[in-house]
Amino acid sequence: MHDFRTIGGMRAWSRRHRADGHRVGLVPTMGFLHEGHLHLVDVIREHVDQVVVSVFVNPTQFGRGEDLDRYPRDLDRDRSVLRARSADCLFHPTEREMYPTPGVISVDPGVLGQQLCGRTRPGHFPGVLTVVSKLLHIVEPDVAIFGRKDFQQSVLIEHMVRDLDLPVEIITAPIVREADGLAMSSRNRYLNYERRRAAPTIARALDTARARFKNGQRDSAKLVDSARAILAPQSEITVEYLDIVDPDTLTAMAVADVSSMMVVAAHLGDTRLIDNIVLGAGTSSDLWVPV
Ligand code: PAJ
Repeated sequence: MHDFRTIGGMRAWSRRHRADGHRVGLVPTMGFLHEGHLHLVDVIREHVDQVVVSVFVNPTQFGRGEDLDRYPRDLDRDRSVLRARSADCLFHPTEREMYPTPGVISVDPGVLGQQLCGRTRPGHFPGVLTVVSKLLHIVEPDVAIFGRKDFQQSVLIEHMVRDLDLPVEIITAPIVREADGLAMSSRNRYLNYERRRAAPTIARALDTARARFKNGQRDSAKLVDSARAILAPQSEITVEYLDIVDPDTLTAMAVADVSSMMVVAAHLGDTRLIDNIVLGAGTSSDLWVPV
């Protein structure tokens, strides 16, 4: 596996491969890789000849008081799991390489970035879109892949690519879950024993609403109530938002349809977790990883 820390080295490698007629794929990550990330490697491998994984904990997408300093990092482990998964190239720039001077220009997500997670994390999506745009310009991939776990992020990236005519195809991959339903996340490791036991209730609440939807319920307020009823007894879980939204506009829908997404953000102590479900999808739309 090739290993680059510099923008110049990374770009030259990628250009060389594309000049040889290879298709290059990019999997952007912040590292501390788990099966959710590695599934993206497997999926993109089907579309390209060379798979590049970037590992960069992007400071501009963390707000003041968020978990930038304690965000888990283990580059040696990331390198070895990527090798085992046959990734072709690891790009792990330093903060200085990516932001040699404080940036003046950033990508504005517009109204889509002010909804849902954007309400409590105002600088988050400008930071995400800016770094993803930089990574796309550095690696110049044919294809880039993102997980539906971060649903709003993937919608915003698709819009950015369309609105700014970026020459890349975006693929979205399903959510990879632990055997008990909890969506995999690097942040799950912050959870103590009690919170880790409570956390799968989030997925169970979404699944309950999905089952009600399948039985014919279309009233979003009632579907949200059914999910809230599952979460209410859990004293460890505080809901930040729980909404049914249109997957393109991210606006609330009073009446749900097969494309509607139920989206949730919840706090377990000082850990913030997000999850979502396509109300009209079967359970098989996500992947469960057996223990
Ligand atoms: P990170 O949280 O490391 O996630 C990297 C990619 O893995 C994202 O596309 C995310 O949606 C996907 N992912 C994480 N957990 C997943 C799961 N359980 N199932 C499926 N996909 C999952 O998202 C970021 O990093 C950053 O914001 C980034 C896009 C790299 C920009 O800094």
